[in-house]
Amino acid sequence: MSELDIESLSKEKRTFAPISDPRAKAYVPDMEAYEALYKRADEDPEGFWAERAKELVTWFSPWEKTLEYDMHKPEIKWFAGGKLNVSYNCLDRHLENGRRNKAAIIWQGEPEEDVKVYTYQMLHTEVCRFANVLKAKGVKKGDRVALYLPMIPELAIAMLACARIGAIHSIVFAGFSAVSLQNRIQDSAAKVVVTADAVLRAGRTIPLKPNADEAMKKCPSVDHCIVVNRAGLEVPMQEGRDCWWHECTHADGITDVCEPEPMDAEDILFILYTSGSTGKPKGVVHTTGGYLTYAAHTTQWVFDVTDNDVYWCTADVGWITGHSYIVYGPLCLGATSLMFEGVPSWPGPDRFWQVVEKFKVNIFYTAPTVVRALMREGVDWTRKHDISSLRLLGSVGEPINPEAWMWYHTYIGAGTKPIVDTWWQTETGGILISALPYATTLKPGSATKPLPGVDAAIVRADGSLAGPNEGGHLLIRKPWPGMLRGVYGNPERYKSTYFQRFPGMYESGDGARVDDDGYFWIMGRLDDVINVSGHRMGTAEVESALVSHEAVAEAAVVGMPHAIKGESIYAYVTLKTGIDESEDLRKALRAWVRTEIGPIATPEVIQFTEGLPKTRSGKIMRRVLRKIAAGVYDDFGDTSTLADPGVVQDLIEGKKDLTGN
Ligand code: WT7
Repeated sequence: MSELDIESLSKEKRTFAPISDPRAKAYVPDMEAYEALYKRADEDPEGFWAERAKELVTWFSPWEKTLEYDMHKPEIKWFAGGKLNVSYNCLDRHLENGRRNKAAIIWQGEPEEDVKVYTYQMLHTEVCRFANVLKAKGVKKGDRVALYLPMIPELAIAMLACARIGAIHSIVFAGFSAVSLQNRIQDSAAKVVVTADAVLRAGRTIPLKPNADEAMKKCPSVDHCIVVNRAGLEVPMQEGRDCWWHECTHADGITDVCEPEPMDAEDILFILYTSGSTGKPKGVVHTTGGYLTYAAHTTQWVFDVTDNDVYWCTADVGWITGHSYIVYGPLCLGATSLMFEGVPSWPGPDRFWQVVEKFKVNIFYTAPTVVRALMREGVDWTRKHDISSLRLLGSVGEPINPEAWMWYHTYIGAGTKPIVDTWWQTETGGILISALPYATTLKPGSATKPLPGVDAAIVRADGSLAGPNEGGHLLIRKPWPGMLRGVYGNPERYKSTYFQRFPGMYESGDGARVDDDGYFWIMGRLDDVINVSGHRMGTAEVESALVSHEAVAEAAVVGMPHAIKGESIYAYVTLKTGIDESEDLRKALRAWVRTEIGPIATPEVIQFTEGLPKTRSGKIMRRVLRKIAAGVYDDFGDTSTLADPGVVQDLIEGKKDLTGN
């Protein structure tokens, strides 16, 4: 059996018809509008995108050609020759269009009393100042600047300051280790590092500058390090290299006037490192004109952001979600973006709802892992706050299992508010497959349909088109403005990872199927697929079945080598608070999966565990789970991105107790 026979047996059949927009001003008001837009974009992609780019972005001078591409080479250019500046689009133009005194960023720090509101005018001033600091440190157009910062306003300010002078930012999530930071600085040869003394997280103060110091030891490219005072920690400052943000932004000669650098549409805006299935993380390259157009376009259509909304994306700016949907998309539109420094569980599991109530949030975008974690704590926490301001909910990062979807819908969305399950990747720059909130009938667990202009297809291993409900490789056949333009410093890897196996098309690496109604069901990374007796099972589906059992909070499923079946299913299961592990429950869960999906999906082994090895972005590190399931307890590879590395040892002990080896 080959990879094309991935089985997707999700039994989910519920549908939820869209509600009509209570304000009657949705950008895409119904399915007819969607169909018409899809057709238009399909027949004339260049015309469609040129229109969007003109409407959403202010250009200093027009482009020569809307699109030039060769997906075999690959070489993709959108709006080439056009000149623009991202920071101008996110700031300056709003000073003239009536939004000068509007909140651009509402920042809620982890301590309840730490709140800052930046109007567009205030943000503009800070960005110009910091842009001048960067210039004073010798940063020029095209130079790389590494940003290693917690979720504080200075992170957004530094991004926009880089964009203003044409420097390329490379954000490294503050949860990454010194070694990870070092690798990323080295790969991009960054000249300047911007960091903070510490990160505030769940009531603790975690020093950050020492990591940067450790990393910079082996980074000869770095001339300067700018340090934000977040926590008032004493940190060693290296003479000549390090300076405090609050001092250098007010040094002699640093004014708040800084002209935006005119950039070509295809100049690099940023690099963002992401892990692949093999090797070191790759530096995904995004450029200026296409990325900004795409981020603004999707923010507008998918989240339906309008001028009076308070919009909150709970991601960290260190991930692509934060780049596109906390900073660039919302600010390009002149929206109000809430930036939150804290975590969902501290000081209590109602923190998110308390923040929603406090700022009367209208649009809320989070990850399934968060939904499941909060679901586990029970609904009483959601009832403590008035969250009726919410109008629209979003989900991203992994397939949302129907159980979590229903909980989100029922308890956060009051059973009426649209949920947009948005499928995309670091590489895609923005959302590709998603419901449109007031147009699409929803199916829990399905990302629904490709957005207009997105030519998504499911193909078999030989490149032929898969039929309805047949699992296969999810590919995108035509370029879209937000797509990556390279892997930094590694054109070979760019080509081989994304464009080689299915020549002329972008390979997402995900498996999916399309149902009879044309709905996409993402089945997870193809490398996470299990082959049991020649049948392919999507791990996400087994997990979803397990999680739909009333006793289960979370589940992670991997393949385990099996002498007869090839592979069998090994499930790690976290039970809901108050539920006890037992042999009976284990049996009941196996029977449950069998009836939910079919005998083929029955887990061979179920290991109960208190926690799963998750990265700080909430992704389960299956590589580690596969090793433990296989009884291999070393050589886990890079585990530096785990939120709690201690989980690994616990899992090993649990496995040994369970199977005796
Ligand atoms: C991978 C990309 C996109 C920003 C956050 C993650 C999975 C993402 C969904 C979704 C099913 C999803 C895919 C994809 N994924 N969103 N709505 N439904 N799967 O970015 O770290 O680049 O990860 O996340 O497997 O390939 P990323």
